[in-house]
Amino acid sequence: METNPSPLSAKHESSFAYGTVKDRMPRILTKVIDVCHKQIQSSKECFGEDGRKDAIDVVGKLSQLRSEIMTDKPLFALDDQLKDKEAWNKRLQQYRDSNDSPASWFTAPWLYVECFMYRRIAGVLNSSTYLKTFDPFAEQKQQSLMQSMTAVENLATFLHSVKQSVKVNDTAMLKQFFVDFLQVSLWGNKCDLSISAGEENSQNVSEPHKNLEALKKFILIDYSNDVWNLILKQKKRKDQVRIDVVLDNAGFELFTDLVLCEFLLFFNLADVIIIHPKCIPWFVSDVNASDLNWMLSYLSSCSFEEVSQLSTKLQERFKDGSMLLMKNDFWTLPDPFCLMNESSSELYKYFSSSDLVLFKGDLNYRKLVGDLDWPHDTSFKMALRHFSPTSLCSLRTLKADVVVGLKPGQAKLLAKECKEWMVNGQYAVIESNIIC
Ligand code: F6P
Ligand code: MG
Repeated sequence: METNPSPLSAKHESSFAYGTVKDRMPRILTKVIDVCHKQIQSSKECFGEDGRKDAIDVVGKLSQLRSEIMTDKPLFALDDQLKDKEAWNKRLQQYRDSNDSPASWFTAPWLYVECFMYRRIAGVLNSSTYLKTFDPFAEQKQQSLMQSMTAVENLATFLHSVKQSVKVNDTAMLKQFFVDFLQVSLWGNKCDLSISAGEENSQNVSEPHKNLEALKKFILIDYSNDVWNLILKQKKRKDQVRIDVVLDNAGFELFTDLVLCEFLLFFNLADVIIIHPKCIPWFVSDVNASDLNWMLSYLSSCSFEEVSQLSTKLQERFKDGSMLLMKNDFWTLPDPFCLMNESSSELYKYFSSSDLVLFKGDLNYRKLVGDLDWPHDTSFKMALRHFSPTSLCSLRTLKADVVVGLKPGQAKLLAKECKEWMVNGQYAVIESNIIC
């Protein structure tokens, strides 16, 4: 029988999880409360006294949630109107059944607890009358794109010049640019707003594609070659190559992801790309469908020609079906991906007909490897614990103290080089499990 390492948890005071539950999560909630507090006045103006009371009720429930976290109260089963409630409660019950102590914010697995906070926020908003679809992070997500516009313009110009100058059959050049756009998308993952507890974290490198050489030494594991070979192989074998991208953050990271998609589609390296956003406000900066729509219309009306052209092209792609957006509640469950086949078998099946699934970001990585305390030289394949619907690749900057696939002894050397190597977003991995 396989024995798994224990889940990361805030019960260990020296862990990154502890600092997250103790400081980062309450700080994020305080911001959410402030944003909702501002809705009291606007709800009153729009909906009268009813609106005012409704927003006050939301603020009260969120303040209660913050106090539960800060005083390490037991976790309880959800009792709201959102349809994934049973799936959440089932996982909590399973945890209780296998542990003697009651699950609380600091003692339960970190993955469950951190996801639970965002699910509770969504439950509170959904139970209101007038703030049901209110996204308390929307403004921050929009700001983070606006603050990255120089980088957006330069990247759009770079893609434009590649489209103009590279021939569709020039495989060597295409490979070089594939690796470039893959790495730009990888480093785009530095810009999330959860690690910075909602503080500004936009793209501050104005020409991200020119910085790649200098960043190479920070990519600890790099399987981009295997991913490229897989794409070429599938192209030869099949009429229609499909790539799925499980998105992470809105703002500059989403832009880099869409640039990669456009590169793949333009050069016929993929025929259809499906992107997977979140369905509720999630980990501050994660993409919802409305963030994507906002971004495309914001960029389409931008005065910088390469940006507006690219955005209009992407809008056309969503119309002609070469790009599709697919929603699924699975992404906002606390489940590691090895449970996808059990809790969302239709999604697992859907992925098995894809040629490649790209998983963006830190949280997706944590879910791929189960957020367990693996020895760092465990193989990625083993840490996936049979999650293998098709070939997959994770593009992730390290912002949590879990990583697998390193060489024996490598973690020790890295710790000497930089104490914070696993959590400060400076290092990255491109890890894959390719099924031939
Ligand atoms: O709050 C910390 C955390 O869970 C880290 O694991 C990670 O830094 C962040 O949230 C989410 O990162 P990402 O947006 O890359 O998934
Ligand atoms: Mg995120």
